[in-house]
Amino acid sequence: MEKIIVANMKMNLHFDEVNNYLNEFKNYNTSGLVFCPTSIYLPYFLNSNYEVGIQNYAMYENGAYTGEISASQVKSMNINYAIIGHSERREYFEETDNIINKKIKLGLENNLKIILCIGETLNHKENNQTNEILKKQIVEGLKDIKDINNIIIAYEPIWSIGTGLIPTNDEIYDTTNFIKEEINRLYNKDIMVLYGGSVTDENINVLSEINNLSGFLVGGASLKPDKLKRIKETIIY
Ligand code: 13P
Repeated sequence: MEKIIVANMKMNLHFDEVNNYLNEFKNYNTSGLVFCPTSIYLPYFLNSNYEVGIQNYAMYENGAYTGEISASQVKSMNINYAIIGHSERREYFEETDNIINKKIKLGLENNLKIILCIGETLNHKENNQTNEILKKQIVEGLKDIKDINNIIIAYEPIWSIGTGLIPTNDEIYDTTNFIKEEINRLYNKDIMVLYGGSVTDENINVLSEINNLSGFLVGGASLKPDKLKRIKETIIY
């Protein structure tokens, strides 16, 4: 099974830190790593010939949308991946499943590989609503989309992001299976599912035992090259 580690660097690092970061990956085999730095730094990662993704793009095609970046602009830079529907975008930028669906359609038209993030809150989990919420995010996020060949799903429990709290391996396995079954029911296809939420170089050994995952989406730990390398080397060799 193909595996990837996606580094979601969010809105972190200043330019001098980015230079140091890139230096740390010189002469390192980055295959299997997808770097998603803050957008203004993407050209530096592209210049190093690393696989990259953008953390977000606009819900509009092109034109008078000050401050936005379009999916076709992303593709024109040879950026291959895009993270769409991250819970931080859903929460702080009021992205609905409908907006996410529009963005995914634009991304697919431009041949981007979409990493669609889905996940439940602690409240959902405690009320046994996890599967119901995930199903809604899948069905509405992928509404009217016929071809899912370029879709990867990242399961990120919101209560696990940046908290150090992680579901058990069995819970992640079962939820990943649920996601795969839903996609299979809708599309009759297998899909790559990643796990994200407090993944570090310290817990990756245990997490690596979950055998239905295609990799991990890493936030905080991806800001430290040595940690990201250890995570990658545990999964991809
Ligand atoms: P952390 O790894 O910092 O918990 O973040 C996870 C995440 O949101 C990746 O998209």
